[in-house]
Amino acid sequence: MEKDEARPLFEDPFAAWFNDEEATAKFRDLIHAFPAVRETARYRVRIMNETLERAIADGVKQVVTPGAGFDMRAHIFRTPGVSFCEVDQPGVLEFKRKVLEARGVAPCAAIAGNYLELDLPGELGQAGFDLEAPTLFIWEGNTMYLPVDLIHDFLARLRAQVPRFIVAFDYFSEHIINRTSGNDTMTATSDYFETNFGAKWVTGFDDLSAFETRNQLKIIRAGAMLDVCMRCAPESAPALAEWTGLHSYCVLESC
Ligand SMILES: C[S@@+](CC[C@H](N)C(=O)[O-])C[C@H]1O[C@@H](n2cnc3c(N)ncnc32)[C@H](O)[C@@H]1O
Repeated sequence: MEKDEARPLFEDPFAAWFNDEEATAKFRDLIHAFPAVRETARYRVRIMNETLERAIADGVKQVVTPGAGFDMRAHIFRTPGVSFCEVDQPGVLEFKRKVLEARGVAPCAAIAGNYLELDLPGELGQAGFDLEAPTLFIWEGNTMYLPVDLIHDFLARLRAQVPRFIVAFDYFSEHIINRTSGNDTMTATSDYFETNFGAKWVTGFDDLSAFETRNQLKIIRAGAMLDVCMRCAPESAPALAEWTGLHSYCVLESC
């Protein structure tokens, strides 16, 4: 849908390849009921793109996307000398590979499996990544689905085995998880995701300090999706209404 905007916030010429009628209908029902879901996702994509562009400009040559889904940044931001590697469940990667190969596009390097269980740094090393070189992890659209201890354990393993990395992720407020936003539309959105997508939001953060104290990572940037909206498309702020202050991003750096 972004391509039809007067001022698109990002480009993804591959997105339509992954849609079928059923998925499109389901998504249209969702955003008909809860238009702000699409709005907040737009700023999430935008801030992750900006983070990637900034990292590449700073000289980062390795990009890893845990829980990549149908992320096509490896192709959209293809840059000589920069390697990308996606991580996802085997079924997701297999589907993605088939879609791309049917269109004559080679998929980027990928690691199939549960990134919470596999030895991700070891697998990246086997895939040719240099664990001593700076690496960007784009961990988009994942944290809200994972138990909090598993989030910290995952970061702790990266911290122990990858000396220089940046990890960018988006996250929800605990008010979404606990249904205490005081906003009935927001609460109904949580219910809708659980009922219609089988996707339960289980973790949110109202305080990021645990990433510094528990993981010894440094917060180098953080903000609300509303901040991104105000910077890129302030006219859309009213459409974000019920998500205001509830969906944010954070960029951590090993130190
Ligand atoms: C909500 S989608 C987000 C996809 C993409 N990063 C984006 O933001 O558009 C979450 C993706 O993460 C994958 N995922 C979640 N937990 C995972 C895990 N523990 N191991 C591997 N993949 C996982 C799912 O299969 C799914 O493709």
